[in-house]
Amino acid sequence: MNLILLGGPGSGKGTQAEALKLRFGLLHLSSGQLFRRHIREQSELGKQAEAVINQGNLVPDEITVAMLRERLQASDARAGAILDGFPRTLAQAKALNGLMEELGRQLAGVISIEVADEEIVRRLSGRLVCRECDTAFHQIFSPFTACPFEKCQGEHLYRREDDEPETIRERLQVFHRLTEPLIEFYEQTGLLTPVDGQGTIEQVTRRVLEAAEAFRPSA
Ligand code: AP5
Repeated sequence: MNLILLGGPGSGKGTQAEALKLRFGLLHLSSGQLFRRHIREQSELGKQAEAVINQGNLVPDEITVAMLRERLQASDARAGAILDGFPRTLAQAKALNGLMEELGRQLAGVISIEVADEEIVRRLSGRLVCRECDTAFHQIFSPFTACPFEKCQGEHLYRREDDEPETIRERLQVFHRLTEPLIEFYEQTGLLTPVDGQGTIEQVTRRVLEAAEAFRPSA
């Protein structure tokens, strides 16, 4: 089963993708995480993406699509993936359609997590991320208590550079301008389920899992 999680920056895509991964045994494929890994390793792709990401803009479509194409072809993506943060432009959505066809796979559904801009600012202003595993915590809403992989004591937590107030504003503008049109695009395909992303993490998880269950192909 291949699912897309659509939503603004900080809407909870990464958090909910982990819940979906646990429930359905799918690969969690986050384009943002892939880029951050490339940046840490200072690969050629990482060097190209770093400045763009830190300014809150989108990495060009050609680079992003090529990275996702390679990742989706890997054997661990064969059983299906939760696409978190991809596609993010109409060009990427069209490229994904072509890629799915090429790989003989199908998109089961798109879950659009809806959160108001003010709430997004509150969430991103308090987010802390683990540099080792990319798990997101929040100073107030989801504080670090234990490492999900039992590997550290929280010593690798950091604040993402693109979570500075000015960059958050830029990312929100980019979302409204370039990514929001995808809601209508997927609505027209009949694949879209909007989910209220406000409320506690557990409340949103219940809604997201319910939406995903409805996409599960019948045996
Ligand atoms: P990416 O890493 O994908 O960033 P994003 O889409 O802006 O999303 P975030 O990771 O910031 O947030 P999230 O929705 O996953 O929320 P989270 O679960 O962490 O991309 C980064 C950059 O890479 C982009 O800006 C772009 O430059 C580039 N990029 C990536 N993909 C690209 C693409 N396809 N094309 C081009 N460029 C691309 O939650 C946020 C916080 O809120 C956490 O602290 C969490 O604990 C907390 N939280 C979550 N849910 C709740 C809740 N219900 N209540 C309270 N707190 C909550």
